[in-house]
Amino acid sequence: MNTAIRLPIVCEAVAATRAVPSLWDDVARGLFSTPRHLPAKYFYDERGSQLFDQICNVPEYYPTRTENALLAEVAGDIIARAMPASIIELGSGMSRKTHHLLEACARQDCYASYAPFDVCDEVLLLAGERLMHEFPWLTVQPLSGDYSAGLARLPRRSERNLVAFLGGTIGNFSASESHAFLSELRAFMGPDDRLLLGADRVKRPEALHAAYNDFAGVTAEFNRNVLRVINHELGADFDLERYAHYAYFNPLESQIEMHLVAMAPQRVKFAVNDAVLELREGDTIRTEISRKFTRSSLEAMVCDAGFAVERHYESRAPAFSLVLARPV
Ligand code: AVJ
Repeated sequence: MNTAIRLPIVCEAVAATRAVPSLWDDVARGLFSTPRHLPAKYFYDERGSQLFDQICNVPEYYPTRTENALLAEVAGDIIARAMPASIIELGSGMSRKTHHLLEACARQDCYASYAPFDVCDEVLLLAGERLMHEFPWLTVQPLSGDYSAGLARLPRRSERNLVAFLGGTIGNFSASESHAFLSELRAFMGPDDRLLLGADRVKRPEALHAAYNDFAGVTAEFNRNVLRVINHELGADFDLERYAHYAYFNPLESQIEMHLVAMAPQRVKFAVNDAVLELREGDTIRTEISRKFTRSSLEAMVCDAGFAVERHYESRAPAFSLVLARPV
């Protein structure tokens, strides 16, 4: 019998400090303009999140396992430098990589609390339960909200927060969006806080191309899933079979661009607002960008937002970076 007294995990809502556009707002703005585009965040309903988990396991998609292995290697150094009283993780999902940080905490008798921040309460609770089972000393204080709605109301958990933003998700933001986001994080942070940022690196275009065009077609399914989300949420009638997955590395922008290309003329009706979207054969919708950094472009981005790089860890090939930075 387990006699330990366990307080239940409770999610704390983080209030938005600016209005988040609705799906319809984003569709109206993005699909009825040129070039047609959608924010990447709409991939991730339950099915989309499962597909992303599957992507992480296809042999061609190296970022997740590379970052994970790198973190396993350097977590001890990160914890020794940051000595966090709390770890705040933005976009924590199932908190799979956090494991390495918490193990390093335990090894160094640095019993930090953990505040995963994500949109889905259910997933936060599930991930929290799992971690508390694995680390009996751990206090999990989940934060539920949308980090694109502003960070001004994000509670500082302690005077020594390690704020982690992993997975290379920063790559989904354009240069100006990344700058705005990192500057907001900077404004939130105190002098003893640290930022831990994971970002993917430029490499042979063939390797980048393969990572977003896996042989099993999981990424293609993930890409089309955004149309399923729109069908479901806005009563639209996108015929998923008629859209080709097209992802390529654009070296001029140093980013993967993921598209859905209409394979025949399409007339898409939206129950919401009785809107109709007409697409010609070959018309495209850009569904995601995923920026790939050089060591120096990544450091420049971090420094421009008001940080100094304390350590820049990198994997052996395929290249992936973890940057530990302090506010200046
Ligand atoms: C979760 C944003 C890091 O950009 O590589 C994977 C998403 N898209 N395959 C990425 C994604 C297609 C992924 N991030």
